[in-house]
Amino acid sequence: MTDCKQAEIDRLTQENSLLQKQIDQLQKMSALGELVSTTTHEFNNVLMTIINYARMGMRHDDKPTRDKAFNKINQAGERAARITKSVLGMARNRSESFEATDLAKLIDGSMVLLEREMQQYRIVVEMEFDDVPAVNAIGNQIQQVILNLLINSRQAMPDGGRLVIRLKQDDSRQFVDLSVRDYGMGMEQETLRKIFQPYYSTKSGPDESGKGGTGLGLATCKKIIEAHGGKIRVESSVGKGTCFTLRFPAIVASSAAAKVAGVASPAGAEINAVRACG
Ligand SMILES: Nc1ncnc2c1ncn2[C@@H]1O[C@H](COP(=O)(O)OP(=O)(O)OP(=O)(O)O)[C@@H](O)[C@H]1O
Ligand SMILES: [Mg+2]
Repeated sequence: MTDCKQAEIDRLTQENSLLQKQIDQLQKMSALGELVSTTTHEFNNVLMTIINYARMGMRHDDKPTRDKAFNKINQAGERAARITKSVLGMARNRSESFEATDLAKLIDGSMVLLEREMQQYRIVVEMEFDDVPAVNAIGNQIQQVILNLLINSRQAMPDGGRLVIRLKQDDSRQFVDLSVRDYGMGMEQETLRKIFQPYYSTKSGPDESGKGGTGLGLATCKKIIEAHGGKIRVESSVGKGTCFTLRFPAIVASSAAAKVAGVASPAGAEINAVRACG
């Protein structure tokens, strides 16, 4: 190969890696924007509940009505506290290191943020969690993946429907599978082939809640999961729905409780071998 060609290849490789970094940054910004929008919506809902029940309590001075109003205000306040706790958890967990992570907790934290939105779009969320071992993960990144999948599923069911989140171990007990199944519109083969390409989107733009349409969601999910030594798999059928499965190498039992701080790579000593999952 001539020096000239080699120099051109080097230049293109460098340009490619720079563009990749920009894509990652864009998806982070877009995920952050969605998080801000979700949290603000959720908080607004809580405030409306508090204001309306406080007004009801002020208008009526009989005990049952006031008790009901206080009860509702109390519940709304507790919900607000759960939302702040979840967002603060995410903000604190900014470390870029891998640690033993409880996926059930991450899913719960994501659902706190999306609970109201799911209700609003008449999505019934079912959670089926087996008692699974921890996985070696960067919590924030996996939360970003979970939110992306849940929002995609919600958007695939514009008239409402069922969404099932499952957590289980595979038969060999070496992996933990997290699946998000919706009973929405599903995808054609043609679409399925492209979903992990950056900027591929069938959405015309963000929906009324400010989400979707950049086409970076799944490209980022795939990248994050692969950096965790995992796999992302999708099954879909038009009119029937879609199931995304994330497969993570499980942390072996002896180290499950220990915090795996500072492990630079998911291929650490405590992690089982990574196998393809079809
Ligand atoms: N659960 C799903 N059901 C049906 N189609 C889906 C589902 N998830 C993804 N898709 C399809 O894959 C495409 C790419 O998804 P991806 O999350 O990468 O981008 P997006 O949702 O369009 O935009 P954003 O980057 O803002 O999330 C979507 O536009 C949609 O056509
Ligand atoms: Mg998306």
